[in-house]
Amino acid sequence: MPSSDIGLDKTLAALGVTESAQVVARFAEVRAHFDGQFTTVHDESEWKLFRDRWLGRKSGVLTQITDNWLKPATAELKRAVGQQLNELRAHVETQIEARRAAIETGAEETALARDRVDLSLPGVIRPIGSRHLIRQVFQEIEDIFFSIGFSVVEGPEIETPYYNFEALNIPEFHPVRDDMDTFYLELPPSPDKKAAPTPLLLRTHTSPMQIRTMEKQKPPVRIIVPGKVYRRDNPDATHSFAFHQVEGLAVDTDITFCDFTGTIEYFVKQFFGPSVKTRFRPSYFPFTEPSVEFDVSCPFCGGTGASNGTTCSKCKGAAWIELFGAGMVDPAVYGFVNYDAKKISGFAFGMGIDRLAMLKYGIDDIQVFFQNDVRFLRQFP
Ligand code: FA5
Repeated sequence: MPSSDIGLDKTLAALGVTESAQVVARFAEVRAHFDGQFTTVHDESEWKLFRDRWLGRKSGVLTQITDNWLKPATAELKRAVGQQLNELRAHVETQIEARRAAIETGAEETALARDRVDLSLPGVIRPIGSRHLIRQVFQEIEDIFFSIGFSVVEGPEIETPYYNFEALNIPEFHPVRDDMDTFYLELPPSPDKKAAPTPLLLRTHTSPMQIRTMEKQKPPVRIIVPGKVYRRDNPDATHSFAFHQVEGLAVDTDITFCDFTGTIEYFVKQFFGPSVKTRFRPSYFPFTEPSVEFDVSCPFCGGTGASNGTTCSKCKGAAWIELFGAGMVDPAVYGFVNYDAKKISGFAFGMGIDRLAMLKYGIDDIQVFFQNDVRFLRQFP
């Protein structure tokens, strides 16, 4: 309803109001008008408009009453108008403030209801994954060697030819390097272009850590070295260009070949179970002398070479499966680390972890370790 309808734009004299009783009636009409409009205010934006309409300084209803009714009122009516205006103002202000509080509380309750968390609902189950089978096998091997006094060291995957080959008694042009061809890193020349860049390569085995450890530590040494290694091998069911090894090295003043075979046998029986048999065959590595290959009786056919009446497909009827290379540390290697070869002796071994895991868990293709297929990974939680 426009304010002209209740005479706010006119003076009381123009409205014909000459007595206090008429003043009271006029104010009652305004108040009824207020109360009627008030019921239509429900939210914050409506409330702001309403407040400005009634309390706005320039043209709010109360300002209009002050300017048009109070100020020009005759001396007889002024007191009654002032008193009525104060009562009306108190009513308007109280109501408007009460409505603001109500709207605010309502909005909060709505927001609370919207955000309320129902603790009885089932939670979101997030898959947390598990360690890769290769990591699990590393852990198994570490636990076995921890139990007999070995400790774990790790080393760089990017190596110099010195640590990967020369210090292991594999000079340049030694034919063994052909078996361990690897990836070389092309490095930028030094800033002053004087020094040729040191050639670097991805290590082909974990054996460089034998040298790095003995350089730092005097005997006794008892370490295993788990880690990734690389070779320029074509991928097939038993070869990958990146795979995993665990190196072992024990050096002290009185280590014999018996200590070596006893340690390996202990490990193999712990890892594959007590019924598995072991044997070693002569082999060759430039950094061990004598060198051996260690075999286990085939865990798939129980070392018989046959399974279900046919030739065992895993050991191809041989009854034995080759596990890893090993040997007594070649005295020439001690020369590279300033150990006295006359006073100390030791053994070393290097196992291919992927193949060990394949044997233990009956996996027939090494490539599955690198394909990240969850259907495979889920079988080894
Ligand atoms: C070595 O790497 C020697 N460093 C082991 C050693 C250490 C001998 C200490 C003596 C003393 P070899 O090249 O045989 O040896 O590799 C060791 C094992 O790595 C193999 O028995 C095999 O299990 C694994 N292996 C070799 N090449 C691959 C490949 N391309 N993919 C997966 N596994 C491989």
